[in-house]
Amino acid sequence: MNQPVLERSAMDEAVRGSLEAVYRRALDIRAGQVADYIPELARVEPEGFGIAVATTEGRLWTFGDAEAAFTVQSVSKCVSFCLALELLGRDRVFEAVGVEPSGDAFNAIVFDPHTQRPFNPMVNAGAITIAGLLREALGESAEATLLDRFSRAAGRPLGISDPVYVSERDTGHRNRAIAHLLLNVGALKAPVEPALDLYFRQCSILVNAIDLARIGATLANIGRNPLSGDYVFDLAAVRDTLAVMFTCGMYDYSGHWALDVGIPAKSGVGGGILGVVNRQLGICTYSPRLDPKGNSIRGLEVFRRLADDFGLHAFECTNYGSSFMKGMI
Ligand code: DON
Repeated sequence: MNQPVLERSAMDEAVRGSLEAVYRRALDIRAGQVADYIPELARVEPEGFGIAVATTEGRLWTFGDAEAAFTVQSVSKCVSFCLALELLGRDRVFEAVGVEPSGDAFNAIVFDPHTQRPFNPMVNAGAITIAGLLREALGESAEATLLDRFSRAAGRPLGISDPVYVSERDTGHRNRAIAHLLLNVGALKAPVEPALDLYFRQCSILVNAIDLARIGATLANIGRNPLSGDYVFDLAAVRDTLAVMFTCGMYDYSGHWALDVGIPAKSGVGGGILGVVNRQLGICTYSPRLDPKGNSIRGLEVFRRLADDFGLHAFECTNYGSSFMKGMI
């Protein structure tokens, strides 16, 4: 016998109840440390905790500090990569950066030994290379173009935290070292400062959990913002971006993430994790206490639970995969 179909509002409530239970359970987790290698990040409120889930139909559920502002940090890497693919094309981008998981920390000073290029665009070396490509192609308008894509995907104008940007710029010696090594292997062109500056600025974009969930829903909706109807990202670029987020988005935790959660995702040391359920959801958790790999501890727990409770894993036996063609016939 068929299961009775829940009314839309009853389903909203059922989903809200299940999400809220996940939120409440994770509230008790106090482990981890806020990032302090960027002095300004050490000042964030460690207790902050928010969840936002946005659907490709425009629905939204929020819990806790879903409107608290934080810097996007490495979550920006998926948007800049997507933009570079669209503007420069696959060949140019993959000539400069690979797509293999590195198995190393996000700030590792290591390149693929076979190609002498960064392993992938989700680690710092790869993201700085992507920033260099965007800067080269767009000149001084690169930052405005990137911010515009972020804003259109989120559905509201976003800006940059100047204190975090200045803090990153003035203390980012390791990233500066990486940039000079990229220059040495030919992945970046001289001078490296404009590329680094774009990278520091993109990491300092201020968002809240709702923004990132909506950006995730735009990616899940193959590049079209579900609320505004705006075509924000190129279709083919979204496919490549989600693939690289799936394999490399959680740094040296990416393998475990694929096993336990099984959706494309990207984390940032500001405490955000963005997850994308293809054709269905954008999910963001915000909690700035991190594990030693730089991933939010509460965020990891929430995503594991959501994957189990809602069957989100790409290879979950109840997951029928894309419903795209079903909508067309
Ligand atoms: O490059 C950095 O150090 C930061 N601006 C971004 C790093 C980051 O978010 C890595 N994430 N886990």
